[in-house]
Formats: sequence, C-alpha cells, structure tokens
Amino acid sequence: MKNRQRIIKDLKEQIDENNLPKHIAIIMDGNGRWAKKRFLPRTAGHKEGMERVKEIVEVSARLGIKHLSLYAFSTENWKRPEQEIDGLMKLLVQYLRSEIERLHKNNIKIKALGDISKLPSLQRKEVEDAMEKTKNNSRMILNIGLNYGGRDEIIVATKNILKDIKMGKMNIEDLDANTFEKYLYTKKQPDPDLLIRPSGELRISNFLLYQIAYTEFWFSNIYWPDFREEHFYQAIIDYQKRDRRYGGI
Ligand code: FPP
Repeated sequence: MKNRQRIIKDLKEQIDENNLPKHIAIIMDGNGRWAKKRFLPRTAGHKEGMERVKEIVEVSARLGIKHLSLYAFSTENWKRPEQEIDGLMKLLVQYLRSEIERLHKNNIKIKALGDISKLPSLQRKEVEDAMEKTKNNSRMILNIGLNYGGRDEIIVATKNILKDIKMGKMNIEDLDANTFEKYLYTKKQPDPDLLIRPSGELRISNFLLYQIAYTEFWFSNIYWPDFREEHFYQAIIDYQKRDRRYGGI
C-alpha cells in the first residue's frame, strides 16, 4: 500500500463511529495564498479548492456525517475584484452542473445558507434547481454558504420575527432559543459540533455566529486546496478527544 493510503487507513481506524460530529462546518480559506505561492491567478486556487469540496463532501457522506456546512461566498466577498467574483460564480455553476447527479444519486440534500436572491440570476436558478431536485434526500445535508453572513442571518431572522409578531402569528412571550432557531437559514438542523478553519487564520469571519455557541474549533496552517481526506480525519480524531461540557462541569 502506498504511504498516503496507509496514513488514511490508520487515521480512519482511529475514528470512533459512535461519536461522530453530527454537523461539521468548514471555512474554506487559503485559496488565494495557495495560488500565489505557485505564481498562479487567485481563481486557480479557487478551482483547486473546488476539487477539495468534491473530496470532502464524498468523504463526509461515506463516514456518516449528517450535516456539512461549507462557507463558499460571504456577504463581504462582494468587495473582491469583479474578475474574482465572476470566477467564483462560474465555479459555483460548474460545481453544481458536474456534481448534481452524483449528489442526488448519493441521497445528499443541497441547501443554500444566505440570501441567494442577490446572486446573479443564472447562479440563483442553478442553486434553486439543485435544492428542489434534492429536497427529499436524507443521507446528508450539504449546506453551502452563498452570500452568507452571520450578522445578516440574525438581522433577517429578527425582521421576520417582528413581522410575524406584528401579524399576530407569534407572541413575544413565546420567543426563545427554540423559536428563534426556526428563523435561521439552518432551521431544523443541529448546531455545528466541529468548525474547521484551515490556512492559519484564527477567526470566525462572520460564519454561523449564532450556531457556534458551543462548537469545537479546529485550526490548521494548511491552505484549503491542500486540505485532504487525512486532514479531515485528523480534525475528527482531535474533536473526539475534547471534553464538551456546555457550561456544566
Ligand atoms: C477563501 O480563500 C475562499 C473563498 C472566498 C471561496 C471558497 C470557494 C471555493 C473553495 C470554491 C468553490 C466552492 C463551491 C462550493 C463551488 P481566500 O481567497 O480568501 O484565500 P486567501 O485568504 O489565501 O486570499
């Protein structure tokens, strides 16, 4: 067996399948720096990053992860040069067109997190079609953050709650964490157990702000395009060693 395959097998065997994180969130960072190191345009980094998306989605589903959330485009990413935004939007369509059949066949449900009404019309349609096609799938939910911002999500939820109160659909007294969560993009899904951020940055960058209250973080210096199956397993192994107390003792 080749060395890498042996490493993967060893790591996989260390994972306790009875204690898997139900929900893993990933901030896919470092595409630009990966490309720069190779004297390539930033878009080349995103393209290679898309290959890792395919790999990690497949590995997650095989392992039995029920919810995977990937941060693909934030509410702040519109500040990037137009050419880079175009490149990312093209990759999104490319990804959906090339993967949708396989995702559907593998019983994976696609869900967008974020205000997709602000995406260009082609991208919006592709995302809506993918969600519609896979809406009854149940093996794993693949959440893709698209024009997603944690603050934006909380503000949108608050506005919708106020509208419902005004229309008499809800009483202020009934508002608690349970009802609030129903207004988030992640409604009906558990909070992330594990959040992975590669590329050496130690911050949250507006991802799932409400949902990460008790999430375990795993940081690494690897750039996202270099983040492979073995790193994913290592993150899960490390997670399984953590003592989660949720404020208790
Ligand atoms: C952050 O790296 C990455 C992004 C803003 C885009 C993530 C997109 C992909 C991985 C590809 C497309 C994904 C799908 C689901 C189709 P960065 O550009 O900020 O890297 P840097 O910090 O090194 O500059």
